[in-house]
Amino acid sequence: MFAIISDIHSNLEALHTVLKDIDRRGIKTIYCLGDVIGYGPNPRECLDLIIERTKWSVLGNHDYATLYEPTNFNYAAEQASFWTRDVLETVEDGQARKKYWQFLGKLNMKETLRTKLGNLATTLDFVHASPRKPVNEYLFPDDVFSNLAKIKTQFEMVKHICFIGHTHLPGVFLDEPDFYLPEELGDAYPIVKEEKAIINIGSVGQPRDGDNRASYAYVNEDKVYFVRLEYDYKKTQEKIRKIDRLDNFHADRLEQGR
Ligand SMILES: [Fe+2]
Repeated sequence: MFAIISDIHSNLEALHTVLKDIDRRGIKTIYCLGDVIGYGPNPRECLDLIIERTKWSVLGNHDYATLYEPTNFNYAAEQASFWTRDVLETVEDGQARKKYWQFLGKLNMKETLRTKLGNLATTLDFVHASPRKPVNEYLFPDDVFSNLAKIKTQFEMVKHICFIGHTHLPGVFLDEPDFYLPEELGDAYPIVKEEKAIINIGSVGQPRDGDNRASYAYVNEDKVYFVRLEYDYKKTQEKIRKIDRLDNFHADRLEQGR
């Protein structure tokens, strides 16, 4: 069994809630699809937990933005990224400061696992955004109707299963092409040999599908389970509103899940 988490976005309350649920299920291995930081009020604390608790993380566009520079960010997102950088640059403990920047600097764009799930031998890819452009491209559910070529080229690059985050919208893309919401699948997707899938596991710290609960997924044998969890978003909102350089919109959207 392993868990996959993504898009924490410096939201410590959501991350604590998700880690607790993972522990409760006895899951020992956690992989992270990036965007540990950005938007939220607790970049240090979230980095500490991700470094300590996950096997690895891949590079998200917000991790990249803090480490290098924001690309195609709106003003509020850009400001959050500059604030995050200042927080990490002014950490007094030199060891800790080095730890954060080294972690961010060593993130790979993609991880691959050749493994067995139950009796099924498979190749699992893990990226932040899309198989074709692992850091920045948005794969939207609507693309299966409006942009068939885009979906087709994604699947050409997927050996069997690819896990993604980035849009903060959980669900499963199939190469028919089609997109299925977790609830349409009874919150579980069975991995089968003959079917390629790109699986978005949703966002821990800033869900955008109209459901404000934290989202993550875990894999047991050959099934991917989608999980949603209520967390104390009001506490996160309060913290964001107290930090001048973080736009209140980042707080408002946590309640609405958008
Ligand atoms: Fe994100």
